Amino acid sequence: MSEEQTKAVEEAAKNPKNLGEMEGADAIGTVGRSDCGDMLRMWVKFKEENGRKVIDRATFQTFGCQTAIAVASIATEMILGKTAGEALAMSGEQLSSPLGPLPPMKIHCAQLVEDALKSALDPAAAIPAANATPVGPTLVDQITPASKVKINLLKKP
Ligand code: FES
Repeated sequence: MSEEQTKAVEEAAKNPKNLGEMEGADAIGTVGRSDCGDMLRMWVKFKEENGRKVIDRATFQTFGCQTAIAVASIATEMILGKTAGEALAMSGEQLSSPLGPLPPMKIHCAQLVEDALKSALDPAAAIPAANATPVGPTLVDQITPASKVKINLLKKP
């Protein structure tokens, strides 16, 4: 990672945007990586705009490295105003593009964000607003054995 990129990652991770749970989210996705043990949850809220259902807000929580935090922060801004289909079409590389090309050992960090987004926006995995998980529990609360949250451990690429 270049010095400039390291600085950009550190800065984004130090002051992450859209960090935290979201009340009344339309969709929630949680994923984890078996190789590094990091986890990321994303909440998404939609709105109607010019006859299109677009992303109004997105937030995240993570047990992740600085790069995952930085990419999630950027991604939750980047997907605003996009339809679910448009956001689903974005790769980890696109979601992390403001940071510049990530070194090979950090590509999976952006992949974690992409996968959390996919988990949230995949209709089969989405939680309808009426049945959305209560706001109270944090990501920590949700990984207790009694939790009903589905955690997808991703295989090594
Ligand atoms: Fe696992 Fe970054 S080291 S997400």
